Amino acid sequence: MTELSRYLADCQARINQLLDQQLQSSEPRLARLYQAMHYSVTMGGKRIRPVLAYASCQACGGEPEHADFAAAAVELIHAYSLIHDDLPAMDNDDLRRGQPTCHRAFDEATAILAGDALQALAFDWLSNQGNWQAETRLQMTRLLARAAGPQGMAGGQAIDLAAVGNQLDLASLEYMHQHKTGALIGASVQLGALASEQASTEQLDALARYANCIGLAFQVQDDILDIESETSVLGKQQGADLARNKPTYPALLGMAGARSKAASLRDQALDSLRNFSTQADPLRQLADYIVQRQF
Ligand code: IPE
Ligand code: IPE
Ligand code: MG
Ligand code: MG
Ligand code: MG
Repeated sequence: MTELSRYLADCQARINQLLDQQLQSSEPRLARLYQAMHYSVTMGGKRIRPVLAYASCQACGGEPEHADFAAAAVELIHAYSLIHDDLPAMDNDDLRRGQPTCHRAFDEATAILAGDALQALAFDWLSNQGNWQAETRLQMTRLLARAAGPQGMAGGQAIDLAAVGNQLDLASLEYMHQHKTGALIGASVQLGALASEQASTEQLDALARYANCIGLAFQVQDDILDIESETSVLGKQQGADLARNKPTYPALLGMAGARSKAASLRDQALDSLRNFSTQADPLRQLADYIVQRQF
């Protein structure tokens, strides 16, 4: 096992246990809704956003327990975004994390509600769980709300849907990617730093630059994998972007151009971390992982 794969496995085990514990309900009338929420959150996933939150908390001198509910909250928002992204009205996908999508395993109305419920629960956790000071909770809540809302993921998704079949220029494609994916990835890094309650302004600024670069790089690689990978490895339908004529980096820049864009973003991300000690090594390794990953 490499150092990074051990780090990933430890963080994944930690967050999986927390999410599984927290997504139980003893109310029989809510059983189906909770089943759909639990299914979508716990049926797999790389947990890259929680891992980034843990790694960023560590880079600022915090312990994993400081970041637990920040990591969990951002994963709930991510899970909600995937449930809705897969709906027939959006990407209309049947496969997610190697399993039927939520609306296939349950039904469309349940999938919509599971997404709604997960979104609200994320903010419930940020405001009620964890041991942060009131000011930290407020900062975190605002940060996650911005990253999820019209100025973040939801806005990016709207641009994505409006752009289907249209040729976007590079600036518009970048804007869309930064919003639909970069915003939540970025928020994961910043939430982890805030959760440590000991990050300096310089550290927060440097981490924001790191987060911008890897957030965009993550979606560039997602676009590359849609073309290059296989359904069985990806856990979602390969070729889905092409089939739906989605604007992507490879479509605009070609495969070599997309790859060099991802690599240059990784290099900029690493440069942003130059003043951090070895405590930031997991963040450094994650920048590389994000552009090397195969699923
Ligand atoms: C997929 O995200 C959706 C995008 C934002 C590109 P991930 O690739 O992180 O999905 P999981 O959580 O590992 O399934
Ligand atoms: C998804 O982008 C972004 C969000 C879910 C916010 P994609 O539509 O490319 O994600 P996948 O490829 O279905 O995972
Ligand atoms: Mg989509
Ligand atoms: Mg999709
Ligand atoms: Mg995709």
